[in-house]
Amino acid sequence: MGMSMPMPKGSSELEQAAEQEAAGECSWRRDFPIFNQPYRDGIPLTYLDSAATTQKPQVVIDALSDFYSHTYATVHRGAYELSSQVTDRFDQVRAKLAQFLGAPDERAIVFTRNATEAINLVAYAWGLDNLSPGDNVVLTIMEHHSNIIPWQLMAHYRGIELRYVEIDQQGELKLDQLAELIDEHTRLVGVTHVSNVLGTVNPLPEIGRLVRECSDALILFDGAQAAPHLPVNLTELEFDFYVLSAHKMLGPTGIGALISRSELLEKMQPFNGGGSMIERVELDTATWAELPYKFEAGTPHIAGVIGWGAALDYLTQVGMERVLDHELALTDYALARLSQVPGIRIFGQGQKMRLGVISFELAGIHPHDIATILDHHGVCIRAGHHCAQLLMKFLGVPATSRASFYLYNGRDDVDRLVNALMEAVEIFR
Ligand SMILES: Cc1ncc(COP(=O)(O)O)c(C=O)c1O
Repeated sequence: MGMSMPMPKGSSELEQAAEQEAAGECSWRRDFPIFNQPYRDGIPLTYLDSAATTQKPQVVIDALSDFYSHTYATVHRGAYELSSQVTDRFDQVRAKLAQFLGAPDERAIVFTRNATEAINLVAYAWGLDNLSPGDNVVLTIMEHHSNIIPWQLMAHYRGIELRYVEIDQQGELKLDQLAELIDEHTRLVGVTHVSNVLGTVNPLPEIGRLVRECSDALILFDGAQAAPHLPVNLTELEFDFYVLSAHKMLGPTGIGALISRSELLEKMQPFNGGGSMIERVELDTATWAELPYKFEAGTPHIAGVIGWGAALDYLTQVGMERVLDHELALTDYALARLSQVPGIRIFGQGQKMRLGVISFELAGIHPHDIATILDHHGVCIRAGHHCAQLLMKFLGVPATSRASFYLYNGRDDVDRLVNALMEAVEIFR
């Protein structure tokens, strides 16, 4: 099957990789077919919107095409060989994901549509039964809307209070404020692992310990921006729910996961009802299938799971330490280069650890105008509130420009970004 797992390199490939390195390019880029074609007006694509969604390597595209072409069938129900094979492959990806995240309990890995649906699953399947008026849920102002709105809906249905931890000048969570906000009525603490605006890596071990020490609250970590970029080892964390999306880590859209603990999921009601999630159905009642199927109603996104498996294989072969090192080095370079742009303000620069999500404003130029000018240079960035309006308000801006990096970006991409920004400054001067 086609291209191109990162195999041990032959000498000519090594030479080519060295040449690319010297040019500031990234050798993993050639595994992604979208970069092997010109973007607009013949210029190369500089894709700096990976925090929204990532490009796909050929191996993922091939896995999807191969699945649909040669081995397609449904899972779990088939009394025939093809379906059994697909079921095995499907469940192997669950095992792969468990290994990738250091998740101790495969039965507690539920496939969902994305991180958003995983959080909604927790809110509805746990929250409706376990939250009551007088309770509170503690969130942070750097949460993505997907970890705010489900809890606002619970406030509507169950009359709970929402409390928010703020950030300091460095763009880090105020952990002493977190400790103050938690009380005996706190039922859940929800924190993003990495901010999709500031790139801040929140100290999950410390947060987990702190919450466990001072309450019985459950802990939900949003790993949507973390799992794609750094090694995650859930065995080392105090947590109850961890969520993520495949499309932000080289996989297909429409598939994500909730990682939890079996004993907790056993006690929860299902989120969606329908086929595949039941054991026995009577006129007025039903019993539920074993975990994790109890939470996977309907025919799942089988191809999505298979494609995610290929993405996990790719990332595993590259090595998440290398992905992180590459991104940290590129982020340092980008921060240094961007600070040379006249009138730029970069949000959140003093964190102990930050990843390659860089939000900024240019004095007097609207973020949407910046994005449009950059696009003419083949540079794709995001402009807007990034589904983080609480954080925008806290920062005192309606919107920012955001450049976000991944393993296929190199210093050449940063240089193109900076050159295009310089031109935007010239145009608006
Ligand atoms: C921190 C964070 N959480 C959750 C999400 C939601 O991800 P999805 O749209 O894949 O559900 C995003 C998406 O940008 C995100 O950045």
